[in-house]
Amino acid sequence: MYTLGINAVYHDSAAALVHDGVVIAAAEDERFTHVKHAKRPVPFSTWQLPFDAIDACLREAGITLADVDHVAYSYDPALFPDMPTRPGATIALPLDPSRARIEANASPWDPLFLSYIVNAKAQLLDGAPHHLRKRFAGVDRENGFVWHNVEHHLAHEASAFLASPFDACAVLTMDGRGEGVTTSLGEFRDGKYKRITQVELPHSLGLLYEAVTGWLGFLHSSDEYKVMALASFGEPAYADQFREIVQYNGNGHYTVADPHLVDRFGVPRERGGPLEQRHFDIAASLQCVLEETVLEMARWLHTRTGLPKLCMAGGVALNCVMNSYVRDNGPFDDIWVQPAAGDAGTALGAALWTDYRLRSEAAQAAGERAERRWQMDHAYLGPAFDDETIEQFLRWSKTSYRRLDNIAEEAAQLLADGHVIGWYQGRTEFGPRALGARSILASPVDPGMQAKLNEIKDREDFRPVAPVVLEERAAQWFVGARRAPFMLFIFDVQPGKAERIPAVRHVDGTARIQTVNRDQHPLYYDLIAAFERRTGVPVLVNTSFNTRGEPMVNSPRDALESFWTSPLDALVIGPFLVRKSEARA
Ligand SMILES: [Fe+2]
Repeated sequence: MYTLGINAVYHDSAAALVHDGVVIAAAEDERFTHVKHAKRPVPFSTWQLPFDAIDACLREAGITLADVDHVAYSYDPALFPDMPTRPGATIALPLDPSRARIEANASPWDPLFLSYIVNAKAQLLDGAPHHLRKRFAGVDRENGFVWHNVEHHLAHEASAFLASPFDACAVLTMDGRGEGVTTSLGEFRDGKYKRITQVELPHSLGLLYEAVTGWLGFLHSSDEYKVMALASFGEPAYADQFREIVQYNGNGHYTVADPHLVDRFGVPRERGGPLEQRHFDIAASLQCVLEETVLEMARWLHTRTGLPKLCMAGGVALNCVMNSYVRDNGPFDDIWVQPAAGDAGTALGAALWTDYRLRSEAAQAAGERAERRWQMDHAYLGPAFDDETIEQFLRWSKTSYRRLDNIAEEAAQLLADGHVIGWYQGRTEFGPRALGARSILASPVDPGMQAKLNEIKDREDFRPVAPVVLEERAAQWFVGARRAPFMLFIFDVQPGKAERIPAVRHVDGTARIQTVNRDQHPLYYDLIAAFERRTGVPVLVNTSFNTRGEPMVNSPRDALESFWTSPLDALVIGPFLVRKSEARA
């Protein structure tokens, strides 16, 4: 049974393919279209489906859309507040929604938004771009795949509890919004999921964080991680102001009042304008109150469920500082966060949930229980390009290259010599973090490396760069570090080691680490081990392989374009080495 998951409703459009409980592939459309987050989360982009990501998933399985049994779309229009969805219903669609009268808590764009979602199946059948049509043709329109609308937060939840290593866990999801829900609290136990309670619009920690992101001069629904980075430069001097806005009310519930940011804090910072201390302090205050509120919810959820493990998803769970605060101050023994915690992960969650629900129903009919058959131990679920394809492209583009005898050893020597390299190996990552498949790597030993990398990537000085460390060495270099393969938690750098890896230590003494073991990515692991043999340091700087404003590279062409348009020293792509100095010679 093949189940295809699709997220397309707001942004981070993505697809995932599950076969009888096992994830075959998951990919984000931005990696193909080169539009970051695939599209802006606005109603008139809702029709756009992630055809390239779907194509990549089907290609990985060697099938076409006609072979798919179920399609799970991570949004249920029937749950949209006050909208008619019965078959044959009509909706009034303003010709010019921008000028239409706005009702309380509603948008004049809502009918258009809803119409696009209701018609997503028809769009999937008829809307494939010309170059992909072969894979989308031949579906029996009457007896072909079954379409499922999966509630948005259920898709977030399932992306966590059906992917985590836990057999039983509390589940917490937080994002901007789903159909009407913004936060959910539940439990996965005895193979069944139960939502315990939820927070609904207009109360949303995610939307508040987005609003402050916009006020601080960054792109909302995109740059929230920059606000998190800013926060560590500030003091929570305005925390009481945010405590007026956000109030935890017990029972897992909170309210968010209209923040009136301009009234409270004055004129918004202009994009690219100077960053003043109050900007840092406002970011720190927001972060502080977010952490306090989520900790209260986590405590309530722990008491209510009595379960020792927690898993989380939703865009707010990409906030690794908040995750770590809950880890350090909360009641749970262990926390697992879905690496594609943003909306891309709902494609995975919708597919996993639909597959699991259908297998559970079939198993129950036979007096049995469905089993989970997959855990997300790594995020390398996207497309790969084989050595022959890479070499063909290098030749075709008249790029000078040489095949390495030992990729890990030779690349490690380049890094030990202080070179910054593009590292392109295997299947792409699913989720927003580069984890050693499409990464820029450098030595952490050079104190100037953070500034050098920010220059290479043409990005803001306040943004930290993150380390990857061999899993078995992690605790020696980072205080209390344990398995953290997805860069979703921070740890303090061990005091005795800080001066040896100055490039990866953030201003507050922490580092957002990735641990890697050999099962997850053998070549990446071997590279770091080879670097350790040369330097005594089992750590590298790892940042995403892209240039400013671009999504991470996907194809060999993307890698070459990024390499030649940024001051990288070398590119290790599959077994091939491309160097600028050699190319010039
Ligand atoms: Fe979401």
